[in-house]
Amino acid sequence: MRMYDLIMKKRNGLALSREEISRMIREYTTGVIPDYQMSAMLMAIYFQGMNEAETLYLTESMEHSGETLDLSGIRGVKVDKHSTGGVGDKTSLALTPMVAACGISVAKMSGRGLGHTGGTIDKLESFAGFSTDISAETFLRNVNEIGIAIMGQTANLAPADKKLYALRDVTATVDNMSLIASSIMSKKLASGADAIVLDVKTGSGAFMKSREDAFALAKEMVTIGNNAGRKTYAVVSDMDQPLGFAVGNALEVREAIDTLNGRGPADFVELCMTLGSYMLMAGGQAADETEAREKLREAVDSGRALDKMAAFIRAQGGDETAVFHPEKLPQAAYAEEIRSGTEGYISHIECGEIGMCSLLLGGGRETKESAIDLAVGLTLCKKTGDFVKKGEPLAVMYGNDREKIAQASQRFLRAYTFGPEKPPESLLIKGVITPESSRIY
Ligand code: URA
Repeated sequence: MRMYDLIMKKRNGLALSREEISRMIREYTTGVIPDYQMSAMLMAIYFQGMNEAETLYLTESMEHSGETLDLSGIRGVKVDKHSTGGVGDKTSLALTPMVAACGISVAKMSGRGLGHTGGTIDKLESFAGFSTDISAETFLRNVNEIGIAIMGQTANLAPADKKLYALRDVTATVDNMSLIASSIMSKKLASGADAIVLDVKTGSGAFMKSREDAFALAKEMVTIGNNAGRKTYAVVSDMDQPLGFAVGNALEVREAIDTLNGRGPADFVELCMTLGSYMLMAGGQAADETEAREKLREAVDSGRALDKMAAFIRAQGGDETAVFHPEKLPQAAYAEEIRSGTEGYISHIECGEIGMCSLLLGGGRETKESAIDLAVGLTLCKKTGDFVKKGEPLAVMYGNDREKIAQASQRFLRAYTFGPEKPPESLLIKGVITPESSRIY
């Protein structure tokens, strides 16, 4: 079997066998297959798709491309959470301390920025000294002692995803259902949690633009998780506009800290409450959603969730004092308001473009080797449905390079559409798929 023949087979729309996929992943992980051939394969998969069986084989091969973690030594039910990626999606930053403060053990493997979306690891590195490059022993100890540990994709755990993820990021091959499902589920299965709560985004800032595709992805991942013996839930949520107001690494960390101080944006708080409730129910810490929400609210109001975040940051080498003094987080040299040239209701935000503005400012990677600027990004002043007067600020852009700010501002303004009437409100939570049932709102 030559990689050339496999690329041609997929390019011609044929299904790959379990053996072919397993060998391809093994040889790519060990460096036998070069990036340029894998890039061609990814593009062939992107255009031809994979069937359910191929997606499952790909997930299994990636899961077993390195070690898998045994979390049986950790007390209680271990619950993991993962998002398919969005703009301003800082959910893990606030949610993991909230649920850990309610007695859930969170053992999580996260990723870096991908395409126009940010990544949890990049965001966490806004805390000086913070590292997700920790050993399996430290990971297990921290989950036991603190209730949270977040690890990067390492050379040991799902290394195939580490390589493929970075390659997809720079070859325009992210938004494919099978590649997303296998990337997420291989990491989740390899890192050993008993239960998994997935946040599947849909809308103009998501990889799955349509509701149908988002529900199909959600069902595919729930099936893979449950068949592997992990209790898996998926919440399908809105990504037709950024989540909260902040977009950009350190800016999002600040918004997560504000949320743990009880001052979070309504949409973001609601998403944390919904996902957190499923995490608490899956972990046996709440009998129903009402009890779960009460516990989560108490964890925030009492300050225990904020203290949990500080303990987690400290345990992974970060400067936890920034949790209580967010002014210590990276800050950009310039802050410029972007003013509306139009009057009316905001009827649509091309959300992916807002993510691209953050990338343009330096907040994302152009090549695998690019360094990112953690301080840059933007905070929205207005969101869909808001009325805006001509000359009112739509957002504040933070950057370290005035030319980049000017370019990003142009792009930002093109992402907003205005109308004379208030648009109908769109639901934040579009549906939930549990091991037992499917609810579509
Ligand atoms: N998150 C992942 O881990 N992988 C993807 O492909 C998309 C989002």
